[in-house]
Order: sequence, then structure tokens, then C-alpha cells
Amino acid sequence: MERTTLAPGLDFSRIVYGMWRLGDDDDTSPAHVQAKVEACLEQGITTMDQADIYGGYEAEALFGATLKAAPALREQVEIVTKCDIVAPAGIYADAPVKYYDTSRQHVVTSVDNSLRLMNIDQIDLLLIHRPDPLMDHYETGAALDEVVGSGKVRAVGVSNFKLHDWTLLQSAMHTKLVTNQIEVSLLHHAPFTNGDIAFLQERIIKPMAWSPLGGGALFKSENSALRAAMKAVGDQYGADEAAVAVAWLLAHPAGILPVMGTNRIDRIKTFADALKVKMDRQTWFTLYTHALGHEVP
Ligand SMILES: NC(=O)c1ccc[n+]([C@@H]2O[C@H](COP(=O)([O-])OP(=O)(O)OC[C@H]3O[C@@H](n4cnc5c(N)ncnc54)[C@H](OP(=O)(O)O)[C@@H]3O)[C@@H](O)[C@H]2O)c1
Repeated sequence: MERTTLAPGLDFSRIVYGMWRLGDDDDTSPAHVQAKVEACLEQGITTMDQADIYGGYEAEALFGATLKAAPALREQVEIVTKCDIVAPAGIYADAPVKYYDTSRQHVVTSVDNSLRLMNIDQIDLLLIHRPDPLMDHYETGAALDEVVGSGKVRAVGVSNFKLHDWTLLQSAMHTKLVTNQIEVSLLHHAPFTNGDIAFLQERIIKPMAWSPLGGGALFKSENSALRAAMKAVGDQYGADEAAVAVAWLLAHPAGILPVMGTNRIDRIKTFADALKVKMDRQTWFTLYTHALGHEVP
């Protein structure tokens, strides 16, 4: 599996495994989570994407139980997690409403919680999960510098930010933000034309793409024409439609890191098939045309 450098000394696998749905699986035992991680590792997929809120604030603990049962895994993976969403569940069950919190206290406390729940000493990459309309960029920026300075976090970035959110926060920090994790897929392709990816490319920042299969919606009947086009491409390379959808993202010059979300080990085992698919310009536009529902102007 190709490796990609997000910052000096911070290399990730090009394809990332996301743990949002970890708690939705029938089997959430440490042994089963370990089997998923090992299915990733067998293909060179070493980067695991978490967030404090996943699974109603339970997913980090599920992964933590796995790392406790199999401590040797820690050295083989890079761990991404996120903070700032407070929803009335789990440790925030008393929250009166869902909200975002980018205060220093919340960021620092969230980091400590994530370290404790995952049984780790350092988070490889911490992301501010969603732009907070009440963000005091001086306070949040200083908090992010602080968690890096303390060694609790190796690198920091953001998620779902627009250019103006990025530049505001970055203007008040010493540490460089290393990625913006945004939704990008054949079903959510606006970032290719609305500037979201262009501003990252201009800064030589690699985007992470969440829900690269549209959260599974790519496989719904309303997308049957697009699916047929994906299948025709995949058949040439012995790859399935999911691999083609991921190859479509990998082909973009921004250096996108797709964050995959299946709970099925058989599907995890074929993630690397995406690298087999040759996505030339005409193939890319064929799929884009189906995704748009019409040819480009
Ligand atoms: N930063 C953010 O705001 C944000 C937001 C959302 C997600 N994320 C991250 O992105 C990761 C991926 O998100 P995601 O889970 O939505 O990604 P995804 O890979 O687009 O979708 C996964 C879903 O698609 C289904 N699926 C996969 N292959 C399929 C196939 N061949 N046929 C039918 N269904 C299929 C899976 O079901 P099975 O499990 O049954 O295979 C699963 O429900 C998350 O785990 C999280 O780490 C980040």
C-alpha cells in the first residue's frame, strides 16, 4: 500500500480505515475489532480514523479495549481522532442540545479522554471535527498548539472546514494544520469544483475523504446506471464497484486519502483492489458524467 506524507515525520497509509460504525456491528468484541484491524494491516492499511463522538462516545473505548488486549497493534497503526461535537449521549448525556465546543478546556479535556479511552500515550492526528460558529480562533489555536507542545498529540488538522474557517484558525497557530477531512465521493463531488479541494491543493495539503462510497448510498437502486459504469471499469481489473469508486478519488492530483467505513471483514480485505484500477482521464469523466446525470458543459 502506498504511503503518503501529511507532515514531516507523519506518514499515513493512502487508504484509511474509519471506525465510525464500529459499534453498529453485531460483534464488538476486542477479538473481532482486532480481526478488522489485522485485515487492514495485511494490506498495508495502517491509519485508523476515530472521533470522540463515534458510537455515542463508545467507539474509542471499543478500539481501546482491542489495543489493551493486543498492545503490539499500537506500534503498527497511526490513530486519528476528533473533538468538538457535544451531543446528548454517553459522557455528555446531560447536554441540553447538540453543539460544538472549541474552547481550550474542551479540547484539552477531549484529548485526555481519547488517550484514556484508547489506552494510548499519544494521538497521531487530532482534528477539530466541525467548524464552530463560536470559535475564538486565538483560544482554539493556542489549545491545539498546547496539545502538540505537550506531546499528547503529534499533529493537528480540521474536518468539514471551508477555506475561511481554515485560514482563520491557522492564522492564530504556530503548528501547521495538516489536513481537512471532508465528504467527497461520486455522490458528493462538489468539492472538486467549489474550491474546497482547490484551496488544499494550493497549500499542498492532502484532503481526507469521508464516506467515499456515499455511506453505502452508491449501491442503492437509484444509482444503478452509475453502478453499471463502475462495474464495467472494475471488470477490466478484477475489482468491484467499491474499488472503482475509491480509485476515482485516488486518481485526483490532490492526493486524497479515502476513509473507508465497512464493518465487513470480507470487504476490508479488498480495499487495496482500488490500487489495481487504472483511472485515466476519460474513465474518470465517464464516471463523473454518470454521477452528474449529464455531460459536463
Ligand atoms: N469527519 C467527518 O465529519 C466524518 C463523517 C462521516 C464519516 N467519517 C469517517 O469516514 C469513515 C467512513 O464513512 P462511511 O462509513 O460513511 O464510509 P463508506 O465507506 O462510504 O460507507 C460505508 C457503508 O457503506 C456500506 N458498504 C460498503 N461497501 C458496500 C457494498 N459493496 N455494498 C453495499 N454497501 C456497502 C457499509 O456497509 P457494511 O458495513 O455492511 O459493509 C457501510 O454501511 C467513518 O468511519 C469515519 O471514520 C468522518
